[in-house]
Amino acid sequence: MSKLSLSEISDSVELELSEFNKLFRESLRSKVLLLELITRYIHKQKGKKIRPLLVLLSSKVCGSIGERSYRGASLVELLHTATLVHDDVVDNAETRRGFPSVNAVWKNKIAVLLGDYLLARGLMLAVDGNDFDFLRVITNTVRRMSEGELHQINKTRKLNIDEESYFQIISDKTASLLSTCCEIGARAATEDQNKIEAMKMFGENLGIAFQIRDDILDLVGTKKVFGKPLGGDIKEKKLTLPLIYALKKSSDDERKNILKMIKKGATNSQVEEVISFVVKHDGINYADAVAKDYANRALKNLELFENSTAKSSLESIIDFVVERIK
Ligand code: IPE
Ligand code: IPE
Ligand code: MG
Ligand code: MG
Repeated sequence: MSKLSLSEISDSVELELSEFNKLFRESLRSKVLLLELITRYIHKQKGKKIRPLLVLLSSKVCGSIGERSYRGASLVELLHTATLVHDDVVDNAETRRGFPSVNAVWKNKIAVLLGDYLLARGLMLAVDGNDFDFLRVITNTVRRMSEGELHQINKTRKLNIDEESYFQIISDKTASLLSTCCEIGARAATEDQNKIEAMKMFGENLGIAFQIRDDILDLVGTKKVFGKPLGGDIKEKKLTLPLIYALKKSSDDERKNILKMIKKGATNSQVEEVISFVVKHDGINYADAVAKDYANRALKNLELFENSTAKSSLESIIDFVVERIK
């Protein structure tokens, strides 16, 4: 079968996505003028909406899309938006989705409070819909995402991260939410525990591949399409898989030199030096192969399901994740 682009995959649930979008927009509304202004700013910027898409397709592959699927989809996108707003404060990021980040425009204080507001609005959706099973899953995810970010900050200070911690961090900060999207989507459509478990694992494996790809793009992506400046992770002293691998493969002298540059806060030309170092030691190819391995695991998780358009769409999302350039 030929590969589908993300927009082609989205087209297969176009009506359902617009239903989600309505609920999502409504959930952002506030009587507070400043909040209305900022949420309008956020809503204008088009994220990929990959998480709501996963919720809807997971429902579809397990049965059908219903009211609970829409609430689930809005809930995860609200939570995702909240964590991005907070993440940009933590990472001192100036851009997001190709636009100035909320913290860059309105400063950290407002960004922190806005993130809390978005999180609360997400949880409210589940409470109002009596989706207590969603709440159990999602509050655990919020915990894991916070732990992942804090674990990462701790490693950043010490600059001593190994592969094991790296996988723990990306599983917590990113894969946990993608896994939750698939689990919630499944729960909205079925009570079959095997199906729910398979979708949960699918999301976890997809999420790991997704973050590895993101970390590769941070080093060798195209700034313009990626919407974030290159080498941000190096400047923030974040050692990601390609770099961890390159450091392991290099000589003691080289490793010390690279770590020293990162520790001091790399200048633009030093960032480029670090990127060349990673490429030279095959760090990009290695990380790429690991991402593909997780993508294959995700593909296997779908074997339980009969062939359908929803299943093909989920398979196409796997391809999209490991090949994406933004
Ligand atoms: C960005 O997620 C945060 C990561 C987990 C890497 P996305 O790349 O899905 O962000 P948007 O919503 O499309 O902007
Ligand atoms: C991903 O972290 C964001 C969250 C999971 C909260 P990163 O800091 O690696 O992601 P980007 O690069 O800012 O999107
Ligand atoms: Mg960040
Ligand atoms: Mg971050």
